[in-house]
Amino acid sequence: MSRVRQHNIIYKEKYAMIRICAAENYDEMSEKAARIIAAQVIVKPECVLGLATGSSPVGTYQRLVERYKAGKISFAGVTTVNLDEYKGLSGTHDQSYRYFMQHNLFDHIDVRPECTHVPNGLAEDAEAECARYDAFVRGLGCADLQLLGVGRNGHIGFNEPCDEFVVPTHVVDLTESTIEANARFFASRDEVPRQALTMGIGVIMGAKKIVMVASGADKADAVYGMVKGPVNPQLPASILQLHPDVTLVADKAALSKL
Ligand code: GLP
Repeated sequence: MSRVRQHNIIYKEKYAMIRICAAENYDEMSEKAARIIAAQVIVKPECVLGLATGSSPVGTYQRLVERYKAGKISFAGVTTVNLDEYKGLSGTHDQSYRYFMQHNLFDHIDVRPECTHVPNGLAEDAEAECARYDAFVRGLGCADLQLLGVGRNGHIGFNEPCDEFVVPTHVVDLTESTIEANARFFASRDEVPRQALTMGIGVIMGAKKIVMVASGADKADAVYGMVKGPVNPQLPASILQLHPDVTLVADKAALSKL
């Protein structure tokens, strides 16, 4: 009996079901994305938020913190699951994604620390940690709302361009272009980890709602390919065309090629 190979997707059609919310600039993009997330938390206070790192969502997090400090929103019932973490970095390393989340969001709001989840970059067995994390996120029913940024090469989380969409949460070798793009945050390029643990396409697409933030001209090609190109694992974000509820909140520069 032949074994059905069911863990990867190869699909090269165009679907373009992505809703676009245009913004003038980074600040307006951040405000619009924060409104969508705040509405989610208000409507369902016990929701699961899928969160992202990188410079794109920083403004969104600032606005959520402002709303919390103004008494307009509480995260006390929220559970968070982050997309990814560098392999080999501890949560106290200032370039780890756990540190980023503490610094940009968790330390400033009332989310319960035990309800915030980031893959463990220091796990001795990284593959086992990925399997644990995948099962954990699926056990939560995946995110009610998943926030995403996008890499210049179209990666989401750390799902890098590849021959196939990789469904499970996995350890990934970062591409040279991602190492280059992320080197700005490290003292030198040599310090950028070469591997990461990332949610796979499966749990990302399992989110009930997806909101992507994209800003700047260096994202314009990725945004164009994601919205107008075929669904193609060489541009991982294009898989979002197959999700029924994706909102791309992007500024003019990021939308300039559409
Ligand atoms: C990183 C993260 C992604 C993020 C992307 C873009 O590699 N793993 O989740 O979306 O890069 O980052 P930025 O928003 O800084 O451009």
